[in-house]
Amino acid sequence: MTRSLIVGCGAYLPSQVLTNHELAARVDTTDEWIVERTGIRTRHIAADGELTSDLGEQAARAALASAGIDARQVDLIVLATATPDRTFPATATAVQAKLGTRQGAAFDVQAVCSGFIYALAVADNFIKAGQSRTALVIGAETFSRILDWQDRGTCVLFGDGAGAVVLRAENGACEAAATAPSNARPRGILSTHLHADGRQHDMLYVDGGPSSTQTTGHLRMKGQEVFRHAVINLAQVVEEALAANHLGAADIDWLVPHQANRRIIDYIARKLALPIEKVVLTVEQHGNTSAASVPLALDVAVRDGRIKQGDMVLMEAMGGGFTWGAALARW
Ligand code: UT7
Repeated sequence: MTRSLIVGCGAYLPSQVLTNHELAARVDTTDEWIVERTGIRTRHIAADGELTSDLGEQAARAALASAGIDARQVDLIVLATATPDRTFPATATAVQAKLGTRQGAAFDVQAVCSGFIYALAVADNFIKAGQSRTALVIGAETFSRILDWQDRGTCVLFGDGAGAVVLRAENGACEAAATAPSNARPRGILSTHLHADGRQHDMLYVDGGPSSTQTTGHLRMKGQEVFRHAVINLAQVVEEALAANHLGAADIDWLVPHQANRRIIDYIARKLALPIEKVVLTVEQHGNTSAASVPLALDVAVRDGRIKQGDMVLMEAMGGGFTWGAALARW
């Protein structure tokens, strides 16, 4: 059995930080409202001319450096984004060029905020199928470019950034019994779980695109509806991931959730009866960075020493489509 080991991670945030107070000078909002309803205090904003591929490249370089792997060894780049540099070609190919490599496959995955979980599942399956040995999985977004800065209901929520992980095929990793204690499980991605319900695609969308309006468009969201579905779908998919591995919430060392809203994260932690100390939180500093939020949070917790080799890490996300998913990995 070939398994995907997560051998490195990295992240990149643009240098400009936008605070709630600065936003309150632009739209009818307050720091108190944003903090109370979302938990967000600041978000990063890409500079003029700074592209999604630039953010992705920096995160990829950091991930490769932490893995001690040369870019020339990478035979697969899967980049999750809803804010590509261009309609085509894939932003993954721009990152590949910036990394100075030309081998293997490079393509984008579009599942909005669930994009990183989707991309991780795709790369994991390429590795399990023997089609890739060393994969870069990147979540990179410049949501600031598709926000309606007059719409206080959405413009306060999102930020820009990128995160990446390096996966390496590990041959012959022994299968632990399904009922083995969590610390006896092999390292690597244990399972991924993806879902979509396209009936809800107009709950969270961009009102533009090449085949509809020929404009880029702006993000539109029915916030309360998204919130309602998020808590239901995320609670279901984390339970599904645990059940598939015959594990309980007590076996989880770290929950690394999509960082959309502190209230959604608190709900899932409560539902799992997981102490909040076991949840990696970056929503306060990063806001919602869509496909970048989970790998950004992973990188924060790995670098500050919380996530260590052997830890059981549960990742989850939910986004436009709706799409949602979870991934369980032993670090
Ligand atoms: O990443 C993909 C997944 N996305 C999400 O998970 C987002 C899910 N949704 C949410 O996080 C929340 O629904 C929001 C944070 C977007 C909104 O919070 P809410 O508690 O659901 O607020 P609401 O939309 O029900 O609005 C309550 C009030 C409204 O005023 P009235 O009608 O009660 O007078 C809004 O107009 O808050 C008002 N409001 C604001 N006030 C100050 C909405 N946005 C703002 C704002 N500042 N920025």
